[in-house]
Amino acid sequence: QAPIRRITAPKIRARKGGEPIVSLTSYHAHTAAIVDKYADFILVGDSLGMVMHGMDSTIGVPLDLMIMHGKAVVRGTERALIVVDMPFGTYEESPQMAFRHAAKIMKETACGAVKLEGGARMAETIRFLSERGIPVMAHIGLTPQSVNTMGGFKVQGRDEAAWQTHIDDAVAVAEAGAFALVVEGVVEELADRVTAAVDIPTIGIGASKNCDGQILVLEDMLGLNPRVPKFVKIYGDLGPAIERAVSAYAEEVQDRSFPTSDNVYK
Ligand code: KIV
Ligand code: NA
Repeated sequence: QAPIRRITAPKIRARKGGEPIVSLTSYHAHTAAIVDKYADFILVGDSLGMVMHGMDSTIGVPLDLMIMHGKAVVRGTERALIVVDMPFGTYEESPQMAFRHAAKIMKETACGAVKLEGGARMAETIRFLSERGIPVMAHIGLTPQSVNTMGGFKVQGRDEAAWQTHIDDAVAVAEAGAFALVVEGVVEELADRVTAAVDIPTIGIGASKNCDGQILVLEDMLGLNPRVPKFVKIYGDLGPAIERAVSAYAEEVQDRSFPTSDNVYK
């Protein structure tokens, strides 16, 4: 039987204005295998620094960590497009530097695309990569790698005077060849304006139901993050379920009711 072909970046791009694009993050082979049944693309987001490794922001995430988790997700899946985030400091300096690191990510993980943050200022780099065989997903609005210049994780576009800059950013990355665009943490009407302004799909997170697709951080929507932003909907409350399991195990170890004869080799 022929191997199942993955969804490609051009296939995602062709979904503009069509059936909503389903996406979640994943950093982990076994959960990615579940997400793979339902998602069009899976993002190995640099949010893994905060979610998996307890960092305060994504600034400190190393390239090798993205590659390690990227490999895990590619191994655990067969259908979805896998997109790996380029971490802070690996692409901003020049198109050449971005290409070197993006190529390393693609060669070592076998992912199908990379994502980087920034609008007009990253357009030249997006063009450089996409003309050389690397599909690029862009990311505008609340861009977490700019937390220190934004002065916190703040919703963007509360002041209508800033809207045009975000729209110009979206148009610039689309014209540069990005195949899709994450729009994060912006007021709803701005997300709608951005979606209308570009011919590539917008993927909303804390944005609008009118985006061409949606993404959430898996652990957030599973209830594993004790402090989630307003835009997260909790679809499964796994925190309490894990705690019940761990406390039952602890009790059974303490009273020697685990392991039973079923759990040992005779
Ligand atoms: O790192 C991440 O998880 C992301 C998504 C929230 C879009 O960039
Ligand atoms: Na990210």
